[in-house]
Amino acid sequence: MQRNQHKVSMDALVSLCKRRGFIFQSSEIYDGINGFWDYGPLGCELKRNIRDAWWRDIVHRRENIVGLDSSIIMHPKVWEASGHISSFADPMVDCKACRKRFRADMLCEEQGVKLIKTEKGFELPVGVKCSACGSKELTAPRAFNLMFKTFVGPVEEASSVAYLRPETAQGIFVQFANVLAVARQKIPFGIAQVGKAFRNEINPRNFTFRSREFEQMELEFFLKPGTDAEWHTYWVKERMGWYERIGLPAESLQQYVYGKDELAHYASACVDVMYDFPFGMQELEGIAARGDFDLSQHQKFSGKSLEYFDQETKEKFVPHVVEPSAGVDRIALAILCEAYREEWVPSGDTAGDVLEAEPGKPVPAGYELRTVLRFAPCMAPIKVAVFPLLKNKPELVAKGREVFDLLQKRWNCFWDVTGAIGRRYRRQDEIGTPYGVTIDFDTLTDNTVTLRDRDSMKQIRLAIAALPDYLSATLD
Ligand code: GAP
Repeated sequence: MQRNQHKVSMDALVSLCKRRGFIFQSSEIYDGINGFWDYGPLGCELKRNIRDAWWRDIVHRRENIVGLDSSIIMHPKVWEASGHISSFADPMVDCKACRKRFRADMLCEEQGVKLIKTEKGFELPVGVKCSACGSKELTAPRAFNLMFKTFVGPVEEASSVAYLRPETAQGIFVQFANVLAVARQKIPFGIAQVGKAFRNEINPRNFTFRSREFEQMELEFFLKPGTDAEWHTYWVKERMGWYERIGLPAESLQQYVYGKDELAHYASACVDVMYDFPFGMQELEGIAARGDFDLSQHQKFSGKSLEYFDQETKEKFVPHVVEPSAGVDRIALAILCEAYREEWVPSGDTAGDVLEAEPGKPVPAGYELRTVLRFAPCMAPIKVAVFPLLKNKPELVAKGREVFDLLQKRWNCFWDVTGAIGRRYRRQDEIGTPYGVTIDFDTLTDNTVTLRDRDSMKQIRLAIAALPDYLSATLD
């Protein structure tokens, strides 16, 4: 699939997401709540497809990776050990004039300067202004911890403070010994988890890109010390291949390789997988070689051994880890941005040259504008739409039901009997359904249907009995 020549307009994408039920603002009838989003009927299918594709690739297709579903609220000591209580913070500044609040590093970045790191914390470079009112009267940057606090039990006191997890990874580290005891795995092996994470972001922004509640897919791959570099390289390659398979081509992605001075003190390597969003190149996933930092910290804080005994070499050691950590919501947004197209297509839904629409220019004669989501079939929320040609002909509707029932056993299908057939095709194009199947009067006599391809709009005639195998070649 070729990339769009023109950058997708985020306004157009956000509007389609709402109009067609991909993504809604959370609590919209109460005017929403900043940084929280709900996924509608199509959005939750898209997210399921992402999670399923990840789980299949990471867990089901490998013998040495197992899954975990740990709790969101854990013992507060987990976050002391992980360092989140002391240092999971962003630098925050307030405008003294309009009282708007900003992430200091981002405010600086927007104005083409870099936040200054000092021994005590951070300092704003001279001249940085409030991006809302332009005032230079800003407070000094101060650390703002991103964890959401709550209380466990009926009494709100210091001893009952707990946190919503800001990442799923720590749930894996604290269950390392239990999983090792039951999973009959030898190092190298991995534990994978998908689940919600919460961060009280100072400035949620760019639609779902930076949210306060989001979903992560994280793998902790435990390995023998000294093999970190080789496994890190392996996982970067594996993950890049996965992104291509779900419809994000190499030319839309970049790897950001951390310099030595950018790495956390315990990490030996880190690569961010970046996607070319309409608002810039931004991170989808971080792949870090974290050494034994996490397990050693939990060993220290819990007093329990998290060592591994190698039966063959008779060595005991705390395993090192490589952690590919991806965000479901960011990947969903990248897939939507990549798939979104405005095209000029031959009028009347006839196959022919499809032209990329040029913003602001009139539609050429003989063409019409269509909006289409060119999802990779594995990511499409609905795989096949079934259309009896006329809704007032019971024999067409009954035959259509037969086809629908046959296909629905295997794929998520959509039934649509209303409106002109061209309009029905367009409705499915707009939500990215790869195939449309039309039942007409010929179907009643020869048991064949018209199969329409979303991208080329080409139509072929196929026997009903041949449909499942034909579709399976691209849909499975
Ligand atoms: N355990 C490592 C970790 O959590 P991270 O880079 O902070 O690393 C991993 O997060 C991924 O989680 C990111 O690459 C991103 O896809 C997703 N993510 C992080 N913060 C997010 C936010 N506020 N909104 C949406 N996704 C977020």
